[in-house]
Amino acid sequence: MLAIDEKTITDAALEQMSTTRDPRLKQVMECLVKHLHAFAREIDLTPEEWIEGIKFLTAVGQKCTPYRQEFILLSDTLGMSSLVNALHDRRATEAGTKTSLLGPFYRQDSPQRKLGESIAADPKGKEICIYGRVTDSAGQPIPNASVQIWQTDDEGVYDLQRNDPSVMDLRGWYHGDAAGNYNLRTVRPLGYMIPMDGPVGDMIRAQGRHGYRPAHIHFLIGAPGYRELVTALYLKTDEHIDSDTVFGVTETLVTETAANDPASPFPKLPSIRFDFKLAKATEVDASGRVGADPSQITKSAVSH
Ligand code: BEZ
Ligand code: FE
Repeated sequence: MLAIDEKTITDAALEQMSTTRDPRLKQVMECLVKHLHAFAREIDLTPEEWIEGIKFLTAVGQKCTPYRQEFILLSDTLGMSSLVNALHDRRATEAGTKTSLLGPFYRQDSPQRKLGESIAADPKGKEICIYGRVTDSAGQPIPNASVQIWQTDDEGVYDLQRNDPSVMDLRGWYHGDAAGNYNLRTVRPLGYMIPMDGPVGDMIRAQGRHGYRPAHIHFLIGAPGYRELVTALYLKTDEHIDSDTVFGVTETLVTETAANDPASPFPKLPSIRFDFKLAKATEVDASGRVGADPSQITKSAVSH
């Protein structure tokens, strides 16, 4: 019989799991156990510390509701969501616009809107225009692409944080025209602090981090035959542009409004022009969404 000690336990666990039928599940779990055990050995983890970790993860789960996804917030604040995005981008066979975080405030049934319409129910705040084209990686227009957009208001608050969840504001679902063009109006969003009233907020405070995200506008763009693009545009002048708490900012997604842009469909409004590039889908492409509408995650977790 094998003597279990701090060295042999890893092989014993791997041996017992070796009957896993699904090969990818086997690979994922073997690698997870190896790294988890190595982590415990490296920091000489104590029983008290491990129980603290378990209490923390329990609190993260307990904080989840159909409108709040604390586990995604944890993944985001640990840099894991950004890492998974980067690995997803690396699997593309063509260059497209970089991905960024889906975040915990995406909702799958945002209102359908016509090009040029505003996503803001209330015109308070500084109105801006966002326009451009959706193209393939060679810059050729993709007709009728689906363009979903969501953002905070001018005080840095999402509709889900402010309203009854049945109210949708500052989100919309557009379709580009036959020449690949899209344009819409919105209000200039304000940066904001990630939800800090849960265990992830406790972790952020314990780490002495500020908890802010710079002002940004989320996009989810798709067209048949192309990889779905989950991304966001970040406003350059935000004071936290170089220290996003969830590591979503990347150089090519940083932009600013321009005044009096003659090419803008709304030249009197400060305008952002941004062209989105979609890479061709490959046969093995799976979803690039690191996250989901929180109500869908809760629903599928309950059905297990
Ligand atoms: C957001 O984009 O709104 C977001 C992303 C990650 C964590 C919290 C918020
Ligand atoms: Fe966001």
